[in-house]
Amino acid sequence: MKKIVNVAIMGIGTVGGGTYEILTNNHDFLMRTQGVDYRVTKVLDKNTDRLKMFGIPESCAASCVDEIAQDKSISIVVETMGGVEPAKTFIEKMLLAGKDVVTANKELVSKHWSALEAAARKGGAGLYFEASCVGGVPIIRALQESLQANHINSIVGIINGTTNYILTKMTEEGMSYADALKEAQQLGYAEFNPTADVEGFDAAYKLSILASLAFHTCVPYTEIYREGITKVTKADIKTGLELGYRIKLLAIGKRKGNVIEARVHPTFVPVDHPLAGVGGSFNAVYVNGDFVDDLMFYGRGAGARPTGSAIVSDVVYASKRNAPLYSDFDNSGNVAADIEVSKDFKSKYYIAVSVKDAPGVLAAVTGVFANHNVSIESVSQRAGGTGATICFLTHTASESDVNKAVGDIEALDDTNKVVSLIRVLG
Ligand code: NDP
Ligand code: HSE
Repeated sequence: MKKIVNVAIMGIGTVGGGTYEILTNNHDFLMRTQGVDYRVTKVLDKNTDRLKMFGIPESCAASCVDEIAQDKSISIVVETMGGVEPAKTFIEKMLLAGKDVVTANKELVSKHWSALEAAARKGGAGLYFEASCVGGVPIIRALQESLQANHINSIVGIINGTTNYILTKMTEEGMSYADALKEAQQLGYAEFNPTADVEGFDAAYKLSILASLAFHTCVPYTEIYREGITKVTKADIKTGLELGYRIKLLAIGKRKGNVIEARVHPTFVPVDHPLAGVGGSFNAVYVNGDFVDDLMFYGRGAGARPTGSAIVSDVVYASKRNAPLYSDFDNSGNVAADIEVSKDFKSKYYIAVSVKDAPGVLAAVTGVFANHNVSIESVSQRAGGTGATICFLTHTASESDVNKAVGDIEALDDTNKVVSLIRVLG
């Protein structure tokens, strides 16, 4: 006899709709391959008209969250509403009622993982969130189940599709940031309020989850250095290409001993690095483990169908486990006592300084770099307006030394300002 698993969906928008479509269209296939009859029996949404859009029978409409929490026939609840509240309260209710929860909500998991996991343990239920990071790309399960043999040294990714789309348009078509953003909004990649994506919050939420799993310790998103793409100019893109780099918004996590680096910022990526070729709205995560060496995970990081695919994989996974899966580290939400999350990381830097085009200016600026231990690899000059822009590529330097040098350069008489500072992958 086939096992029947009743599923509820809270929030039937883009991802919830994709999830419903897969569970419905691939129902017989899943029954045949997984031996389970998955049935969506309750759907909650603020707007019941949305159920009609997906052909969901009216009998499935839940009038309130408690109707799902109290329904003993439902064992798995999918949360695809988004946001922190009421999603957190709703999920905790389900977990405490002993129901496994599958969510795509990276903001919620990154901010309240600890509380959600506590509720899951109390209710004897599982919390699964493959869809929260990198859409359809199975990176979470890989970190949890396929790479345990390794100390993960680094995880470097393009994990936000909206910003990758914008930067790709700026690079390949010479578009301005504003025009590329407008196009991304028209195509539905960027939201009307694009702040979470373009300011790097979305990538920081995801990096917090991925780095915590990769390094087996809490990497709170508040500890992640974050810088978005709003200051990237056409000139940065052009100079980058001339120097052999493409600009990408990278999420970078590294662990060396008990020191962790976690940062999100625009980065010059050498054109021959596999991440440089990841274009448009695609995502990729490059992982290095001490035994497995380099791996790259690539695919669609968003959209109804890819993200729905990740949700359904969690539904299947949850339904087949004998016991819930919990974190393999002390998931308190805080940095562990024996771990340092360092903000003073080391990198190569591209620094463009706008100056008065006069004798001695270059020497003054390079003098400041020397004073702060920042060694220059190459220098070029762009003419423009009444002055010039000097573009420096540094050797590896520390963030704190570079910041001190920037402060001193901006205080020089003939110097206008540091117009760009972009870290270089390498
Ligand atoms: P949508 O806005 O398309 O869908 C959310 C749905 O939930 C809407 O129908 C919304 O109604 C409904 N909803 C919101 N709050 C409530 C509530 N309190 N009670 C009942 N229904 C509610 O969002 P997405 O599908 O795009 O995103 C859902 C989640 O998936 C988010 O956490 C997002 O970060 C994540 N995600 C999204 C991806 C994507 O490609 N879109 C990719 C990966 C993750 P209303 O519109 O009226 O508010
Ligand atoms: N806004 C996100 C992105 C959606 O652009 O990648 C997927 O999490």
